[in-house]
Amino acid sequence: MNMRISAGEFTERSLQIIRDLKHLEGPMLPILHAIQAEFGYVPEEVKPVIASELNLSRAEVHGVVTFYHEFRDHPAGRHVLKLCRAEACQSMGSDRIADRARQLLGIDFHQTTLDGSVTLEAVYCLGLCACAPAAMLDGEVYGRVDEHCLGDIVAGLSR
Ligand code: FES
Repeated sequence: MNMRISAGEFTERSLQIIRDLKHLEGPMLPILHAIQAEFGYVPEEVKPVIASELNLSRAEVHGVVTFYHEFRDHPAGRHVLKLCRAEACQSMGSDRIADRARQLLGIDFHQTTLDGSVTLEAVYCLGLCACAPAAMLDGEVYGRVDEHCLGDIVAGLSR
Protein backbone atom coordinates (compact mmCIF):
# COMPACT_ATOMS: atom_id res chain seq x y z
CA MET A 1 0.00 0.00 0.00
CA ASN A 2 1.37 3.44 -0.92
CA MET A 3 0.27 6.31 1.23
CA ARG A 4 1.02 9.94 1.92
CA ILE A 5 1.48 10.37 5.66
CA SER A 6 3.57 12.58 7.91
CA ALA A 7 6.92 11.69 9.47
CA GLY A 8 5.22 11.55 12.88
CA GLU A 9 2.69 9.03 11.61
CA PHE A 10 5.49 6.97 10.04
CA THR A 11 7.19 6.86 13.42
CA GLU A 12 4.07 6.03 15.39
CA ARG A 13 2.93 3.23 13.07
CA SER A 14 6.45 1.87 12.71
CA LEU A 15 6.90 1.72 16.47
CA GLN A 16 3.75 -0.33 16.74
CA ILE A 17 4.98 -2.77 14.05
CA ILE A 18 8.46 -3.01 15.54
CA ARG A 19 7.20 -3.61 19.06
CA ASP A 20 4.84 -6.33 17.81
CA LEU A 21 7.70 -8.18 16.07
CA LYS A 22 10.89 -7.39 17.95
CA HIS A 23 10.51 -10.45 20.20
CA LEU A 24 11.09 -12.72 17.18
CA GLU A 25 14.47 -14.32 16.67
CA GLY A 26 16.12 -12.32 13.88
CA PRO A 27 13.41 -9.62 13.90
CA MET A 28 14.92 -7.26 11.32
CA LEU A 29 13.57 -8.90 8.15
CA PRO A 30 10.04 -9.54 9.46
CA ILE A 31 9.95 -5.92 10.64
CA LEU A 32 11.14 -4.58 7.28
CA HIS A 33 8.62 -6.75 5.40
CA ALA A 34 5.82 -5.56 7.67
CA ILE A 35 6.84 -1.93 7.24
CA GLN A 36 6.97 -2.29 3.46
CA ALA A 37 3.57 -4.00 3.52
CA GLU A 38 2.23 -1.08 5.57
CA PHE A 39 3.71 1.86 3.64
CA GLY A 40 4.58 0.34 0.27
CA TYR A 41 8.30 1.00 0.89
CA VAL A 42 10.76 1.44 3.73
CA PRO A 43 10.78 5.19 4.47
CA GLU A 44 14.11 6.80 5.38
CA GLU A 45 12.55 8.22 8.56
CA VAL A 46 11.83 4.71 9.82
CA LYS A 47 15.42 3.46 9.75
CA PRO A 48 16.53 5.29 12.92
CA VAL A 49 13.40 4.08 14.70
CA ILE A 50 14.23 0.46 13.86
CA ALA A 51 17.86 1.02 14.85
CA SER A 52 16.90 2.46 18.21
CA GLU A 53 14.34 -0.26 19.00
CA LEU A 54 16.69 -3.09 18.00
CA ASN A 55 19.74 -1.47 19.58
CA LEU A 56 21.57 -1.33 16.25
CA SER A 57 23.27 1.46 14.34
CA ARG A 58 21.45 3.27 11.54
CA ALA A 59 24.18 2.02 9.19
CA GLU A 60 23.33 -1.59 10.06
CA VAL A 61 19.65 -1.05 9.26
CA HIS A 62 20.50 0.82 6.07
CA GLY A 63 22.86 -2.02 5.09
CA VAL A 64 20.12 -4.63 5.39
CA VAL A 65 17.56 -2.53 3.51
CA THR A 66 19.93 -1.91 0.61
CA PHE A 67 21.27 -5.50 0.53
CA TYR A 68 17.89 -7.06 -0.26
CA HIS A 69 16.40 -6.16 -3.64
CA GLU A 70 12.95 -6.79 -2.22
CA PHE A 71 12.96 -3.56 -0.22
CA ARG A 72 12.13 -0.25 -1.87
CA ASP A 73 13.32 3.17 -0.75
CA HIS A 74 10.49 5.03 -2.46
CA PRO A 75 6.79 4.38 -3.06
CA ALA A 76 6.09 2.00 -5.94
CA GLY A 77 4.22 3.04 -9.06
CA ARG A 78 0.67 1.90 -9.81
CA HIS A 79 2.18 -1.17 -11.49
CA VAL A 80 5.27 -3.13 -10.48
CA LEU A 81 7.05 -4.99 -13.27
CA LYS A 82 9.64 -7.48 -12.02
CA LEU A 83 12.08 -9.10 -14.40
CA CYS A 84 13.99 -12.19 -13.38
CA ARG A 85 17.75 -11.66 -13.46
CA ALA A 86 18.83 -15.08 -12.15
CA GLU A 87 20.89 -17.67 -14.02
CA ALA A 88 18.26 -19.69 -15.92
CA CYS A 89 16.61 -16.54 -17.20
CA GLN A 90 19.95 -14.98 -18.05
CA SER A 91 20.86 -18.02 -20.11
CA MET A 92 17.61 -17.56 -22.05
CA GLY A 93 18.13 -13.90 -22.89
CA SER A 94 16.85 -11.94 -19.91
CA ASP A 95 19.57 -9.31 -20.37
CA ARG A 96 18.08 -8.42 -23.74
CA ILE A 97 14.59 -8.26 -22.19
CA ALA A 98 15.90 -6.04 -19.40
CA ASP A 99 17.55 -3.67 -21.88
CA ARG A 100 14.31 -3.46 -23.84
CA ALA A 101 12.26 -2.81 -20.69
CA ARG A 102 14.61 0.00 -19.65
CA GLN A 103 14.35 1.47 -23.13
CA LEU A 104 10.54 1.23 -23.33
CA LEU A 105 9.97 2.64 -19.84
CA GLY A 106 12.82 5.17 -19.83
CA ILE A 107 13.91 4.06 -16.36
CA ASP A 108 16.43 1.72 -14.80
CA PHE A 109 15.81 -0.99 -12.24
CA HIS A 110 14.63 0.31 -8.83
CA GLN A 111 13.14 3.39 -10.50
CA THR A 112 9.58 4.54 -11.17
CA THR A 113 8.38 6.33 -14.30
CA LEU A 114 7.77 10.06 -13.87
CA ASP A 115 4.02 9.62 -14.28
CA GLY A 116 4.05 7.14 -11.40
CA SER A 117 2.63 4.36 -13.54
CA VAL A 118 5.40 1.72 -13.40
CA THR A 119 8.18 0.63 -11.06
CA LEU A 120 10.79 -1.67 -12.59
CA GLU A 121 12.38 -4.19 -10.26
CA ALA A 122 14.83 -7.06 -10.56
CA VAL A 123 14.07 -10.41 -8.93
CA TYR A 124 16.30 -13.41 -8.56
CA CYS A 125 14.18 -16.40 -9.58
CA LEU A 126 10.41 -16.49 -9.79
CA GLY A 127 10.35 -20.30 -9.68
CA LEU A 128 9.50 -20.34 -13.37
CA CYS A 129 12.96 -21.34 -14.63
CA ALA A 130 11.60 -23.94 -17.08
CA CYS A 131 9.75 -21.11 -18.82
CA ALA A 132 12.62 -18.61 -18.77
CA PRO A 133 12.91 -15.74 -19.23
CA ALA A 134 10.27 -14.91 -16.66
CA ALA A 135 8.58 -11.73 -15.47
CA MET A 136 5.95 -10.75 -12.95
CA LEU A 137 3.49 -7.92 -13.34
CA ASP A 138 1.53 -6.90 -10.24
CA GLY A 139 1.88 -10.43 -8.88
CA GLU A 140 0.98 -12.26 -12.10
CA VAL A 141 3.78 -14.32 -13.65
CA TYR A 142 4.69 -14.48 -17.33
CA GLY A 143 6.94 -17.13 -18.88
CA ARG A 144 8.98 -17.22 -22.10
CA VAL A 145 8.90 -13.46 -22.28
CA ASP A 146 10.23 -12.13 -25.56
CA GLU A 147 10.57 -8.56 -26.77
CA HIS A 148 7.19 -8.68 -28.51
CA CYS A 149 5.42 -9.93 -25.36
CA LEU A 150 7.25 -7.35 -23.25
CA GLY A 151 6.15 -4.62 -25.62
CA ASP A 152 2.52 -5.71 -25.19
CA ILE A 153 2.89 -5.75 -21.40
CA VAL A 154 4.47 -2.29 -21.29
CA ALA A 155 1.92 -0.86 -23.73
CA GLY A 156 -0.83 -1.77 -21.27
CA LEU A 157 0.87 -0.13 -18.28
CA SER A 158 0.34 3.56 -18.89
CA ARG A 159 -3.13 3.41 -17.38
S1 FES B 1 15.92 -18.13 -12.94
FE1 FES B 1 14.31 -16.88 -13.66
S2 FES B 1 12.54 -17.88 -12.93
FE2 FES B 1 14.15 -19.03 -12.09
